Amino acid sequence: MEFKNVLLKKENGIGYVTINRPKALNALNSETLTEIDLAFDEVANDDEILVVILTGAGEKSFVAGADISEMKDMNVIEGRKFGLLGNKVFRKIETIEKPVIAAVNGFALGGGCEISMACDFRIASTKAKFGQPEVGLGITPGFGGTQRLARHVGLGMAKELIYTARIIDAQEAYRVGLVNKVVEPEELLPEANKIANEILKNAPIAVSLCKQAINRGMQVDMDTAIAFEAEVFGECFSTEDQTEGMTAFVEKRKEKAFKNK
Ligand code: CAA
Repeated sequence: MEFKNVLLKKENGIGYVTINRPKALNALNSETLTEIDLAFDEVANDDEILVVILTGAGEKSFVAGADISEMKDMNVIEGRKFGLLGNKVFRKIETIEKPVIAAVNGFALGGGCEISMACDFRIASTKAKFGQPEVGLGITPGFGGTQRLARHVGLGMAKELIYTARIIDAQEAYRVGLVNKVVEPEELLPEANKIANEILKNAPIAVSLCKQAINRGMQVDMDTAIAFEAEVFGECFSTEDQTEGMTAFVEKRKEKAFKNK
């Protein structure tokens, strides 16, 4: 499908979703959120895509937040509806059964920081800036920021960042554990590709089940989490890729022919 504000392409097992609304620094209006939703449906249903990289178009911004011009005159009902739309889309990104890497190329503010946190992990360029500036606009973070930031960086740091609306650079985001790695801007996509290719060497069903087990386990008590792990672990033994992975080990074979089956 062709979109107005989102670019979608695939190459060698990797799906690239690029938020492309540069005149507003890739800010998320309802139209863009709806397109991201549809793009991730496409990605989810495309068996040729095994890993996803999410980034922003241009050199300046990943996503500069939810669209302030659209939000400015919203009433209570519209505000709630907009919040629910963003949350629905980001939850889809978080729960899609494929790894999603955020390649954060510039401003990741408000909804931009929030969409990056719905991804499995974040790689940042030295130009990236993160923050939840919402309280300075008279609102709370509305696309999951009050929930996911604390899960990523801990309660105290999340509260400090959200209450102060402070914007932090990529190195500080690395220090507090929000991003996995910081690279020069020209290295950002190559680095994301490198990690995607490391993932692609492994059994896709096993990787997908790991995502589900980790995500689900973080929301429940340890006994329930371990029970779910046992379930997905068992499920692996119904796959051809388990046979291939273990046979390759026994045969001392480096190359494995995983089939996603
Ligand atoms: N919404 C709408 N438009 C935005 C935008 C946003 N979040 N961020 C930037 N833009 C637009 C600007 O209005 C400007 O448009 P015009 O050229 O038509 O005036 C264009 O993008 C370029 O922006 P600037 O001229 O401001 O660029 P700058 O380099 O001077 O500043 C910036 C860059 C610091 C990111 C600044 O644009 C900024 O502070 N943006 C808003 C960041 C923000 O507060 N984000 C949180 C939004 S609230 C939210 O996300 C709620 C939620 O959780 C759901």
